[in-house]
Amino acid sequence: MAEDAILGFLEKNEKIADSGKFASNIGIDHNEIVNVIKSLHGFRLVDAEDIKREKWVLTDEGKSYTVAGSPEVQLFLAVPPEGISREELQKKVDPSVYKIGCSQAIKNKWLEMGKAQVSRKVQQVEDQVKDLLLRIQDGEVHAVDQGDIDALKKRKLIALQTWKSYSLTKGPNYAPKRKKVATDLTREHLQRGDWKDLEFKEYNFSAKGQPAEGGHLHPLLKVRKQLQMIFLQMGFEEMPTNNFVESSFWNFDALFQPQQHPARDSHDTFFLQVPSTTKKLPEDYVERVKRVHESGGYGSRGYGYDWKREEANKNLLRTHTTAVSSRMLYLLAQKPFAPKKYFSIDRVFRNEAVDRTHLAEFHQIEGLVCDRGLTLGDLIGVLHDFFSRLGMSKLRFKPAYNPYTEPSMEIFSYHEGFKKWVEIGNSGMFRPEMLLPMGLPEDVRVIAWGLSLERPTMILYGIDNIRDLFGHKVDLSLIKRNPICRLGVD
Ligand code: PHE
Repeated sequence: MAEDAILGFLEKNEKIADSGKFASNIGIDHNEIVNVIKSLHGFRLVDAEDIKREKWVLTDEGKSYTVAGSPEVQLFLAVPPEGISREELQKKVDPSVYKIGCSQAIKNKWLEMGKAQVSRKVQQVEDQVKDLLLRIQDGEVHAVDQGDIDALKKRKLIALQTWKSYSLTKGPNYAPKRKKVATDLTREHLQRGDWKDLEFKEYNFSAKGQPAEGGHLHPLLKVRKQLQMIFLQMGFEEMPTNNFVESSFWNFDALFQPQQHPARDSHDTFFLQVPSTTKKLPEDYVERVKRVHESGGYGSRGYGYDWKREEANKNLLRTHTTAVSSRMLYLLAQKPFAPKKYFSIDRVFRNEAVDRTHLAEFHQIEGLVCDRGLTLGDLIGVLHDFFSRLGMSKLRFKPAYNPYTEPSMEIFSYHEGFKKWVEIGNSGMFRPEMLLPMGLPEDVRVIAWGLSLERPTMILYGIDNIRDLFGHKVDLSLIKRNPICRLGVD
């Protein structure tokens, strides 16, 4: 072990002059030795002094000349005593040997380079460059004089390699073996009584602690909390949304959605197998809903089809939180009228193909205001108030269609980042065909709007694939790291 080797060596010797040499002597990687030195130095078992080591080493080009000879010698040997044409000579040697060899051989006055003919100026030459390189390679730099070193360096045949090592001596806490210090006082120490002789590790008050492992709120929950606060500040009450299973009656029929509407198909809605139907519905109200679908009333012509109770009884996973709104408005109609502001934020389910922006379950935010004589102007005003609290103050509305609202409006907001209008929700005034059978007074109007919770959350957290936000592919560490939600109101 590196630690034993160092401490053991220092027990018998004054000093380790160079940790680099020491490492190669005992056959341990120098990096490993350096780590041990740092630890020993930290506990002051050794004193360490930096030393910078430098060594001349051959470059790849330099190495190649130790085998093939320098280019100038290679070129000289390619010129026969009687001379040779430039053209011939060029064919005999490598292009790089020709190029470098020519300039060096001329400089050394070895060759006469005529216009066409090349001839020797000396009988023979010595490959001094090769000899110098070999000497350096063998670590005999001291036998090479500075002028030659400079010349070889200039020709990029050698380079200076530097690295750091240490010289080591015993430190004030030196011991041939590091004493194990205790980090904990245990029951056993107390029972055996050896705690008296224990040496304890000192507290390190600047050590970083373990990151706290507590629960972390999901981004959707954080944004939901903020939205709840906004609704509460605006004087809205939260509706009870704790039933994912709903009957078709409250999800569709009560909302004047005809029974053959495509959204009521099993391709769009998850129907329950067990229990497949609901047991209890308010019978007199069911009768009024049946009549308004079949033949209208309250100034409406209705849809003119045979309304089936079996269809209304079918259980499903609610497709929107408007199912909860319909229950709440019905309850409201059973008492002397009082205006109300309601909201809900909870999960809904749709039998949809899953892609980067759609999931089969998501969350809806819904708000409604119920009072006498409300108008579309009130709806637009409330929407401006609500969305500006989310940091969206530029709104536009587009006429839309919902079976249960008239008029209906899609809500668009100008997205400063995307530089375009994006759809953010849907809204409208509930139809008299929905409100009057419930028993609400005739002059009561209900304005309402809905949007998904996922959309604003993805925008706030910069997530562009819904599967990174919700479901089994979510990266838990992202949930731990993400910031507390603050809606962008400036
Ligand atoms: N329920 C509608 C949806 O699922 C949203 C909405 C709510 C529209 C209230 C109008 C009024 O998209």
